[in-house]
Amino acid sequence: MKRKEQEQRFVSASTTPDAKEIAAKFQRLKEEKNNRVQKYPAKRQKPADDIASTVAGHYNNRDDVGVQMRKESPIFNLKQFNNWIKSVLIKRYVKQGGTVLDLCCGKGGDLQKFQQNKVKTYYGADIADKSVKDAVQRYNQTAGSNKQFTFAANFISGDCTKKPLSSVIPANVTFDSVSCQFALHYSFETEQQARQLMLNATEKLKSGGYFVCTVPDAYVLVKKLRSVESLTIQNKIVKACFKTKKFTEVFGNQYSFELLDAIDDCPEYLVPCKDFVALAKEYGLSVVEEKNFHEFFETWSEHDDFKFLTDRVYKLREGNMTADEWEAIYLYRAFVFRKDGQADQQDAYNPSQNFFKLVDPLKDIKYL
Ligand SMILES: C[S@@+](CC[C@H](N)C(=O)[O-])C[C@H]1O[C@@H](n2cnc3c(N)ncnc32)[C@H](O)[C@@H]1O
Repeated sequence: MKRKEQEQRFVSASTTPDAKEIAAKFQRLKEEKNNRVQKYPAKRQKPADDIASTVAGHYNNRDDVGVQMRKESPIFNLKQFNNWIKSVLIKRYVKQGGTVLDLCCGKGGDLQKFQQNKVKTYYGADIADKSVKDAVQRYNQTAGSNKQFTFAANFISGDCTKKPLSSVIPANVTFDSVSCQFALHYSFETEQQARQLMLNATEKLKSGGYFVCTVPDAYVLVKKLRSVESLTIQNKIVKACFKTKKFTEVFGNQYSFELLDAIDDCPEYLVPCKDFVALAKEYGLSVVEEKNFHEFFETWSEHDDFKFLTDRVYKLREGNMTADEWEAIYLYRAFVFRKDGQADQQDAYNPSQNFFKLVDPLKDIKYL
């Protein structure tokens, strides 16, 4: 199906409500939700003296909201879309019965997807300590229910662009797959940080294993920026403010990004696509799939293996996506890399084995 036709069927005629209306609704929902108790307080984090602390503070301050609030979000369908993308990527590239590293795991929003894909062992790492504790809670709370996860989980708190994960992961652990969703762009502040993140992503990745990531699409951002007179590109739900239209360096191209009900004015960095692929090559990674989200949807949404995710799980067929959400989706790109070399012999894999083990948020989280 042509992209235009797909967009017409998929995007509704309704527009995003006004920002004031949305803000009032969210205030009310937040007040309703404030009764929730934070079980495990976050480890005290440094004041925002650098960009990393600003980013960590931003994500620490975002509450893990309940199902109802999630449904009321003005970008509910965009979030569904992003979850669809991640589910498809995980299904395609994360090895069943394998060990996965979820780099910049946030609140563990992808735990369920890894369960669906029947991984055996999970490692999640993030700079935002409160998010890591939310992820632990999300994992633990399946205990004893019929939705109990069957994989073993390990959590790490710390800056993955400044410290080696190998310092807290046992030497005999290697990864079949590494996933870094909507986060790698923070590392493009400096070359040193991007290199540390790439080292963390690849050091323990097995030959033949996949590194899967999603980042803002620099081609689209720069194209849109050059088509407007000001230094800001925006619609009702998304806004990116740049300092310049000329980009001569690979790293440090900062802009400030807002996504309604998700990211409030947070510093981000362009990830120049060709430079990223060249950098990945230095870490033994070759690109196997690279697509803007619109193209990714066009390619995979009707595929037999993913149609149930499109239609049933994420319900992306009801024409309820606003044009603003669809435009925001266009700002992202998926990259999949394969680690060079011959893949090892497949381990025997028994999907009925259960490796679940409660994680003590006070003792089991490792700190970088
Ligand atoms: C948009 S969220 C995505 C979270 C998760 N990957 C997902 O898709 O739901 C970006 C995450 O990157 C994390 N992050 C940003 N900079 C980081 C760093 N230097 N080291 C580790 N995590 C970082 C943030 O704390 C946040 O949880």
